[in-house]
Amino acid sequence: MKTLIRIVADLVVIGLVALVAIIFVPVQRTAPTEKLAADWQPPAELGEYGARLADCAVCHTKPGGEPFAGGHTIESPMGDIYTTNITPDPETSIGKWSLDDFRAALIDGVTPSSEHLYPAMPYENYRHISEADIRALYDYFMHDVKPVTNQVAETKLPFPFNQRWGIRLWNWVVLGHAGFKPATDKVANDEQLSHGAYLMQVLGNCGSCHTPRGLTMAQAGANETDAKFLTGGEIGGWSTPNLRGPKSASQQWSADELKMYLTAGRNAHSAVAGEMKLAVQESLQYINEKDAAMVSYLLCTRSAPTVRLPPTRRQRPQTRRTTPLPASMRRMMPPRRNCAARSTSRQANGSTWTIAVPVTLPTDAGRLRSSRR
Ligand code: HEC
Ligand code: HEC
Repeated sequence: MKTLIRIVADLVVIGLVALVAIIFVPVQRTAPTEKLAADWQPPAELGEYGARLADCAVCHTKPGGEPFAGGHTIESPMGDIYTTNITPDPETSIGKWSLDDFRAALIDGVTPSSEHLYPAMPYENYRHISEADIRALYDYFMHDVKPVTNQVAETKLPFPFNQRWGIRLWNWVVLGHAGFKPATDKVANDEQLSHGAYLMQVLGNCGSCHTPRGLTMAQAGANETDAKFLTGGEIGGWSTPNLRGPKSASQQWSADELKMYLTAGRNAHSAVAGEMKLAVQESLQYINEKDAAMVSYLLCTRSAPTVRLPPTRRQRPQTRRTTPLPASMRRMMPPRRNCAARSTSRQANGSTWTIAVPVTLPTDAGRLRSSRR
């Protein structure tokens, strides 16, 4: 009995020490994962382009408000979270932040005063942003964004969610290593696929809306090797479509149709609505040809091969049914690129399934054409 009491007492002491450590041990920041030359300068427009792709404005701009001046409300199951001002205003925003402060917010989810940000800021995805993109973003926010003085309302979640140190535990459980590494050799060995994977997993944070969340509320899958990755999540109480499963867009639509949907907001099957409309309007419509690599990656994350036949009259236009090709025709198709396969072999006959007919992107004056990495 005495031993039992001793053990319980020891556990309580260990628990208390751990708690004190979590609350008081200084927060560590992750060092840059790549070394760039000291005189490295971001290519013109890379920062603005990255900010678009990463949707910074969607969350950090209040409807009708100044760009990036914050105050937009994000409804979470724990209560309303207000986004912050991220213009370079020194008093009410991040104007005095160093590059290290900025990087820490993006990849560790911490502020210069070592406060933890709520994961409503998608640092779970941004954690893997390349150092070049971080520096380009910092440069853009500090020099090109207009400073706006705007003290945004403080987020006040009910107890225990107002105890931000608790997020530290969550970070320990959920966050992996910073930096981006393709999950399979297949993707790593194919420049287009790995670029597409980076854009979808990291900068474009598609998973923040399209991947279901597990018990911890973290995304239940970070890449194509996770069965749940991009299989449909939730945003603002609405479910988002599965992008990989048997009846999903990547199974039913051609590369061109996917590209049309992402960049122009509509194709023969569907037109964007809701949150996806915002994603296209504020972000995806601006992607350049190189970044349409997302489509190749999206296609190769599909769970099972199906080939879409031309729609018959009765099926048009919404039907998502597919019919497998007869074996004789299948032999004539290009080999399926299944990026979830852990294989290093490239297609032996050199044939790859990339975007067949490039879709001309809209060419409004304001669109960016900078080329990326
Ligand atoms: C899905 C919405 C969302 C997106 C997209 C988003 N943020 Fe945030 N961000 C937030 C929220 C919410 C907070 C505040 C979190 C909190 O209060 O803990 C925040 C906080 C921050 C902070 C901390 C500011 C401060 O004063 O503490 C910085 C810096 C920041 N975001 C930069 C960015 C950048 C740069 C991008 C684009 C690369 C971006 N955010 C994209 C939601 C978002
Ligand atoms: C802010 C949340 C959000 C983000 C971020 C987001 N999506 Fe979506 N997406 C949605 C919603 C919601 C829909 C459903 C739209 C509708 O019903 O019209 C959707 C629909 C789609 C569809 C059509 C699927 C279908 O079956 O109709 C595709 C394809 C798609 N998204 C791809 C992407 C890609 C690729 C990214 C990342 C670059 C992305 N989405 C990022 C919320 C999001």
